[in-house]
Amino acid sequence: MGKSRISPRRDYNYNHMNNLCLVYFKITPLCNLRCRMCGQWGDRGIMKDRDITEEAKKIVPLHRYKELIDEIAPLRPVSYIWGGEPFLYPDLMPLAKYMVDRGLYVSVNTNGTLLEQRAEQIVRDKWSTIFVSLDAFEETNDFMRGKGSYERVVRGFKAINREKKKQNSVCPVMGIVTTVTNQNYLDLGRLAEATREFNLDLHIFNMGTYTNDNIIAAQRRFMKEKLDTDIDCLAGYNTGYNNGIDGRRLHAVLRDLHRNDYGHPIITVPALNPEKTHTYYADLETPVRNNCIVPWCQANINYNGDVHFCADYPDYILGNIKERSFAEIYNGDRANRFRKTIRSCRGGMFPGCLRCYQNMLFGKKIKGY
Ligand SMILES: C[S@@+](CC[C@H](N)C(=O)[O-])C[C@H]1O[C@@H](n2cnc3c(N)ncnc32)[C@H](O)[C@@H]1O
Ligand code: SF4
Repeated sequence: MGKSRISPRRDYNYNHMNNLCLVYFKITPLCNLRCRMCGQWGDRGIMKDRDITEEAKKIVPLHRYKELIDEIAPLRPVSYIWGGEPFLYPDLMPLAKYMVDRGLYVSVNTNGTLLEQRAEQIVRDKWSTIFVSLDAFEETNDFMRGKGSYERVVRGFKAINREKKKQNSVCPVMGIVTTVTNQNYLDLGRLAEATREFNLDLHIFNMGTYTNDNIIAAQRRFMKEKLDTDIDCLAGYNTGYNNGIDGRRLHAVLRDLHRNDYGHPIITVPALNPEKTHTYYADLETPVRNNCIVPWCQANINYNGDVHFCADYPDYILGNIKERSFAEIYNGDRANRFRKTIRSCRGGMFPGCLRCYQNMLFGKKIKGY
């Protein structure tokens, strides 16, 4: 990936498509699980109060996604499919295949419970990467994610490995994503050790997105005043599942994880100076990164076609791909208004951005763990 896309120009009268490096496709609002810490469907999740039958009717049809892919494929952004649970989008298989055929690097983030049935086709279609969510050993994992989920994920891993062997393929790269919570954080090392048997290519530890009432109130005021936008998504991340995490103990756990050899890379996100792990949990209102670069190089297409910069907080809408081309939206007035507003903020972030991992994936080089 070119340097300009990792450190993109922060400009306005400019074709931002040149810097587009990552497009999230949140292809469905539906999910078959109710993971407790999830900002969408968890204990405080914002989808729980919505008329989900109505929301599901709004999904973008396959033919419109194909047009969008034709538009962005020459720019070669990484495409990251997620949801809800992506396997509940009726045309996931043809969509992912179309992306692969158009030369895109296709990553799919799934809860893994529906993987087994699709394993043969996933390998045949040469998906680039699957990120499967697994948070802990069976008891804790199923407490957080639902009974039986651990067992189904394990069956999914086995099926993918079986198919890769049978089809003599290295695709897809297979990784686990473990979301760190106060339920699992002291047991991450044992999990990394035990999951070696699944023949992984990587294991990602996600320190978890979270917030509190003060930050939500500050963000609500700010977005209304500066961008005339009512927000509701941030509240879904006020889950309490990061409360009580001892950052110093987690720092020791992560440091050991990164020192050990598990036969595959260990990645901790957000990319954070390890010294700040304590602050990340103990002092939520202190920034750990600054100058968000997302509006200059990334976008999220929501299930209804709305385009946003912030994948987890789809409140401010840039435009809708059912009505306009992606380039028009990405270079449009609403996009530039957002860019100018965030750039004028102290530290180049809004009040609600304090623990947003999307902001912390790229940008100024951080040594991390
Ligand atoms: C919202 S899910 C959507 C994809 C799919 N349903 C899954 O669970 O993998 C995307 C990722 O976010 C993780 N996640 C859930 N709650 C989170 C939180 N509060 N902070 C950060 N990541 C979270 C999930 O575990 C998953 O790895
Ligand atoms: S499976 Fe994914 S989208 Fe569904 S509730 Fe769990 S974390 Fe949220």
